[in-house]
Amino acid sequence: MNATPPPRPVVLSGIQPSGRLTIGNYLGAIKNWLPLHAQYDCYYMLVDLHAITVRQDPKVLRERCYEFMALYIACGLDPAQNVLFVQSHVAAHARLSWVLNCYTQMGELNRMTQFKDKSAKHVDNINAGLFDYPVLMVADILLYDTAQVPVGDDQKQHLELTRDVAIRFNNIYLEQNGGQPVFRVPEPMIPPVGARIMGLQEPTAKMSKSDDAETNAVYLLDPPDVIARKIKRAVTDMDGSIRYAPVEKPGVSNLLSILSATGGESIAALEARFAGQGYGALKGATAEAVVECLKPVQARYNELREDRAGLQRVLKDGAERAALRADATLKRVHDVLGFIPQ
Ligand code: TRP
Repeated sequence: MNATPPPRPVVLSGIQPSGRLTIGNYLGAIKNWLPLHAQYDCYYMLVDLHAITVRQDPKVLRERCYEFMALYIACGLDPAQNVLFVQSHVAAHARLSWVLNCYTQMGELNRMTQFKDKSAKHVDNINAGLFDYPVLMVADILLYDTAQVPVGDDQKQHLELTRDVAIRFNNIYLEQNGGQPVFRVPEPMIPPVGARIMGLQEPTAKMSKSDDAETNAVYLLDPPDVIARKIKRAVTDMDGSIRYAPVEKPGVSNLLSILSATGGESIAALEARFAGQGYGALKGATAEAVVECLKPVQARYNELREDRAGLQRVLKDGAERAALRADATLKRVHDVLGFIPQ
């Protein structure tokens, strides 16, 4: 009997080390990733190569990368069960992205809405990297034979491009590759009905880690008094009833989502519990639940941040494990292109 277990499908996601991680990142994304390692080989990376498409302060960038990694782990992403790494540590990302540049059309990149938004925002630095950003993301995904990519709505267009480029490349080199597709064509991962956390001041838009308005988000590293203050000032409405109705009552509904995701009670149970009470009661309970939920995360974070050598070991190990898979894919690509084997 052959004892080798069948290969497990890969889940991969990346996050830009910019801004500050919020409870939206935790409750809406990271928390959903925690159980995935039971079924998938999971890769989570910090995309520092993507981050330099806008100007970064080197000291801030480096500290933020350590901060984000420590927070990932503090949120429960165990480095023994998930491959955690930094994009720039795995050379295959930049190398495959060059190759794929030659299989992506200018017109396709011109249509990317994120490029249009970002070039409008950074008019003084519309660099080639900003234009090429999606191709690097295509390489990130294809290098790992990724089956599923958990991404937000703003990244769906980049995932579509990934599929288009993969299918195009596979068709061109099908024969050269012995009738086998070179790349696995990835799918978006539909999140389980998870929390979609909106801004506290602007509850009709998603809470963002790069928002300028400090009070719109609760950051994972906010101290308890700051959390309480932000939640008490959250925008509600004049209607006075505590019901979940995202269109009609976005602020109150968002508080209910946050309380449900942090306190563990269903929204229906919360509606029943708070029937007839005022918004002050809901805000107080929400603030308390968020503080309690973040307490262990912050405690673990503080320990991890003191042990920089430990974090560096995690990243070194992660990069080695990532490179094993990424290098194999790059080799396959170089082979079909006709490059001389190394
Ligand atoms: N572009 C993504 C974002 O801004 C980050 C990212 C880079 C990514 N490479 C990726 C996400 C690969 C998923 C898979 O959010």
